[in-house]
Amino acid sequence: MIMRTIIINNIWSIPMYVCVCNAVTDKQIRQACENGACTMEDLSRELNVATCCGRCQDCARKILCENTEQTFLAAPLDMAVPA
Ligand code: FES
Repeated sequence: MIMRTIIINNIWSIPMYVCVCNAVTDKQIRQACENGACTMEDLSRELNVATCCGRCQDCARKILCENTEQTFLAAPLDMAVPA
């Protein structure tokens, strides 16, 4: 049980790339939220999240919601459209 906890803790401490196009990690998104980002527009403006292919949008929004205590459905649907 202790070993399992250690492994899980190590997995969560490793940054995960959310936006591969712009090399943005979940840790950076959480940090942006702590600094006041509360919409996907904020994340796009500050970190360029979802400004290229847009495949990271759902994951980024989930992290945003978790960190701003919004519900997933209440999050704004604003999003940059790939060129
Ligand atoms: S993975 Fe984020 S814009 Fe492509």
